[in-house]
Amino acid sequence: MATINDNYLKLKAGYLFPEIGRRVAAFAEANPDAPIIKLGIGDVTEPLPEACRTAMVRAVEDMGDRDSFKGYGPEQGYLWLREKVAQHDFQSRGCDIDASEIFISDGSKCDCGNILDIFGSNNSIAVTDPVYPVYVDTNVMAGHTGPANENGEYGGLTYLPISAENAFTASIPSEKVDLIYLCFPNNPTGAVASKEHLQAWVHYARAHGSIILFDAAYEAFITDPAIPHSIYEIEGARDCAIEFRSFSKNAGFTGTRCALTVVPKTLMGKAADGSDVALHSLWNRRQSTKFNGVSYIVQRGAEAVYSPEGQAQTKALIDFYMENARIIREQLTSAGIAVYGGVNAPYVWVKTPNDLSSWDFFDKLLHSCHVVGTPGSGFGAAGEGYFRISAFNSRDNVNEAMRRVTEKFRV
Ligand code: MLT
Repeated sequence: MATINDNYLKLKAGYLFPEIGRRVAAFAEANPDAPIIKLGIGDVTEPLPEACRTAMVRAVEDMGDRDSFKGYGPEQGYLWLREKVAQHDFQSRGCDIDASEIFISDGSKCDCGNILDIFGSNNSIAVTDPVYPVYVDTNVMAGHTGPANENGEYGGLTYLPISAENAFTASIPSEKVDLIYLCFPNNPTGAVASKEHLQAWVHYARAHGSIILFDAAYEAFITDPAIPHSIYEIEGARDCAIEFRSFSKNAGFTGTRCALTVVPKTLMGKAADGSDVALHSLWNRRQSTKFNGVSYIVQRGAEAVYSPEGQAQTKALIDFYMENARIIREQLTSAGIAVYGGVNAPYVWVKTPNDLSSWDFFDKLLHSCHVVGTPGSGFGAAGEGYFRISAFNSRDNVNEAMRRVTEKFRV
């Protein structure tokens, strides 16, 4: 019989969001009339910007004409999109990033996992705790960890605790790690990193030959002008960082799928013979072999984000979700519940009232308010006692959810 990848057996029960989905489905089946409001998974609810839809419709028409029809596109993405990204997202902020260093893909989640293909199996790896579970689970699947302990912490990973005491930004480790996952604005805590904090990480990475895997999927939600949107705003980051970005949350592409990963050509890794190898060429080789690119239609939709109309419409979407975040923060605060984040990020990180465990609060909220959130402990042991509320929903749903929650929970 064929054998399996035994590393999968080390994974804790299920991926967090399917587990939540199962619990909600069971509750809904038993209570078919309960008006459930979902503020759990960070999935957008508002329609695609008109500029993107118009561009996609036009692209569909292109596909209907022999002269403008497109077959396989470049695995790295069409140059017209990569050039717009380079110019608008990076060069306009002073980042020295060229279109040829941008790889268009179908998602940051996929890229965060797939990037491990180009790294060795003996790297030491640091993640924050709490953390976006994909960083951890993909390393478990790749055999980079030992089994999990009773707290769900995997042997071999370095966990960097983040809490209110350190403003949810990890201290720089004293030991050397090879790969560091950083996510700012942070999922799940909604925290952001100052330029100084990122500079300290870049110094650390350059001093130790480490690589930062920087997840900037939520950068569009930054409202404070002093906060960097890209790791490449930090001097020296070209030599130590890969950045992941997405159209999912700023332009509503969670179902449409488009994202990008930046691998600077100056970024090097060590081969077994001690030589330096450009990670750009490895990622290019990986993508050309295992990926056939994002559809022409979707890339045209993504390109339209950078048109004047697209910019105005995506800004309106972001403002809409950030107003939701403000309502969530203010309502919970008025009920005496401590909240963090939600100012430069679409997630509000809530201290559970009355010292409830994260899953107890989840169950209470589901059963008594019919509101779904995400238990903080699902993001790591240090998330216990916290709860994440997503600002991605309609205004009516957010108002109604907050009305129900503040009626039931007052501290
Ligand atoms: C989340 O809720 O954390 C996000 O939706 C996850 C993701 O974008 O994959």
